[in-house]
Amino acid sequence: MEWSLPFGNNVCRIRLSPVTMVDMTHSFDKDYWDQIWHGDRATAMGTSPANPHLVRQVGDLTPGRAIDAGCGAGAEAIWLAQHGWQVTGADVAAEALETAAERATASGVADRVDWVQADLSVWEPESPYDLVTTHYAHPAMPQLEFYDRIASWVAPGGTLLIVGHLHHGHGHGHDHGPPAEASVTAADITGRLDAEVWEIDTAEESHRSMNDSQIHDVVVRARRRPTLAG
Ligand SMILES: C[S@@+](CC[C@H](N)C(=O)[O-])C[C@H]1O[C@@H](n2cnc3c(N)ncnc32)[C@H](O)[C@@H]1O
Repeated sequence: MEWSLPFGNNVCRIRLSPVTMVDMTHSFDKDYWDQIWHGDRATAMGTSPANPHLVRQVGDLTPGRAIDAGCGAGAEAIWLAQHGWQVTGADVAAEALETAAERATASGVADRVDWVQADLSVWEPESPYDLVTTHYAHPAMPQLEFYDRIASWVAPGGTLLIVGHLHHGHGHGHDHGPPAEASVTAADITGRLDAEVWEIDTAEESHRSMNDSQIHDVVVRARRRPTLAG
């Protein structure tokens, strides 16, 4: 079996042996991601352009401090840096970050991005961010709890942008999506964002073709309401 997974604006095809499938179904841990990013894959994915949802969703925001949670080879963090943001690119996989850092240097934005190697299921930032974004990151912890975690890193008045795998069931012909535990619906995400705290700007489920693969995305953008003074 093969998964077709978006990385940045590219498709990564991951071949699974029956044994690997059993292992990977239950563990998106550091070892798994290190294996994904080992060797040629990090180099190949290091040429991917930024995710089109990020480009569309962030263009109207005023740049400030941003974090890309599970940044992989850095396409989105670098795009943000090129558009005026001071960025933290965080990922558990060291090889992905090495590729990302080389790419930031080549793009002339190395001074605008800090690369942090960390397990984001336990790591905490020192201060909140004006933009917290993530693209297809699925750690070993439950997906929606991961989104809860990163949402807590958004500063008052700041923005949360989640781009994830849409949960749409399996067995759709040649369309091999990610496993159920790594995918969500827009309603799954917005249902956890307290309306007294968050204003939802975007909650959409989109479908696009990329390199002969169908990509099913969920995109949620929400603004944390400013805290009232006094
Ligand atoms: C499917 S890849 C997407 C990479 C990148 N955001 C993109 O769209 O190309 C998921 C990323 O999440 C990272 N990741 C998974 N679990 C993590 C964790 N617990 N802490 C930090 N990063 C994690 C992986 O190493 C991987 O780079």
